[in-house]
Parts: sequence; structure tokens; C-alpha cells
Amino acid sequence: MRFFIDTAKVEDIKKANDMGVICGVTTNPSLIAKEGRDFKEVIKEITSIVDGPISGEVKATTVDAEGMIAEGREIAAIHPNMVVKIPMTVEGLKACKVLTAEGIKTNVTLIFTANQALLAARAGATYVSPFLGRLDDISTRGVDLIREIAEIFDVAGLDTQIIAASVRNPIHVTDCALAGADIATVPYAVIEQMTKHPLTDAGIKKFQDDYKAVFGE
Ligand code: E4P
Repeated sequence: MRFFIDTAKVEDIKKANDMGVICGVTTNPSLIAKEGRDFKEVIKEITSIVDGPISGEVKATTVDAEGMIAEGREIAAIHPNMVVKIPMTVEGLKACKVLTAEGIKTNVTLIFTANQALLAARAGATYVSPFLGRLDDISTRGVDLIREIAEIFDVAGLDTQIIAASVRNPIHVTDCALAGADIATVPYAVIEQMTKHPLTDAGIKKFQDDYKAVFGE
């Protein structure tokens, strides 16, 4: 399983990129709004940091296929690495079909059932984004959805990639990897949590103490 970072905060993207662990970025309208910056400006900056797929979503207020297609073309024109993120609706599927036919990569988002994922894949989606954490929030096991989608795509021979999204903690990450997600898109705070273990800290301290006891600072 590969990692994308799920944020529009360039400082966090730089930190994760410097660690060498991410190969792409996902954003959404809430994450863009949180930064309070112009969409194109922030997306361009992100493309200059990470050399991999960058998902930019159509405006939250654009609900018709024609509007999504027009915006999708604009997003794709920002940089060759751009992926157009489209909500999972009837109109979104129509937009996905047209953009895919034009060779534009798509990420169908807000996936909460295996059937939605299957439809998106049939419409030509490059990626589907099932939202693990938001399902857990309503007492439904998000990881079961990832596993179902992975199995269905495998049985059907579909090459649409699964981006496990709405990842909230390190256990989610392990669960997604075991369930067959191709990618997990993870906030920076979770990436940092994943680096930690108390025995690692204790081990570093012991090595330092033992070294200093013989060789000094
Ligand atoms: C996915 O692409 C979304 O940007 C994101 O993972 C949503 O996460 P949240 O449910 O924590 O907002």
C-alpha cells in the first residue's frame, strides 16, 4: 500500500515529502477552505512539491455534469499530475465518463458502499475514495468496505485503484493495508503518529546513555 497525504497545508506536504513516504496528495473543498487560499494558487504550489498524483476537487457548489466537466478540464490543465476529484452522484459519474474519455485522471470521492465503487470503476474512474473514518463515526466498520471493494475489483479484474480515505489513526492505516487498499491518504498528524513507539524512544535514550557513559558527549 502506498501513501498520499490528505491536506492542502503546504508545510505539512513538504514535511511528509521530505520523509520520502508519500507519492501523492489529496485535497477536498473543506481542506482548501481551511487554508483560506486561492484554489489554483495552492494546487500549483503543491504540484511543485510532490511529483505524483494530486487530487483537486471540483467546486462543492458544482452539481451538474457539464459544470464538473468544464471545471475538471481546468483542473487537469493546471499540471500533468492533476487528478480531478468528483463526488459520487449520477452527474459525477457522467462527468467521470467524459473526462476519462479525454484521458483525464479521475478520483470518485465520497464512496460509502461497494456498489458506488463498482459504478465509479465502470464509469472509468482512475481512483475511488471510500471514506473509512466517516463510516466508523456512524458505527459501521469502514475497513469492511475497503475489503469488499478490493475483493470485487480483484474478481472483476478492474484496475481502478482504491484510495482509503478519511483515515483518522494508525490502526486505520494497518487495517487498510491488510484489507487490500492500493493507497491510504493520510493526514500529516497520523503519519507522525505512525513513526512513534515508546520502545523506540526508550531504545534511543539507552543507546545515548550507554555511549555517553564511555565516550562522553
Ligand atoms: C478524502 O479524499 C478526503 O479528503 C478525506 O480523507 C476526508 O477525511 P475526513 O472524513 O477526516 O474529513
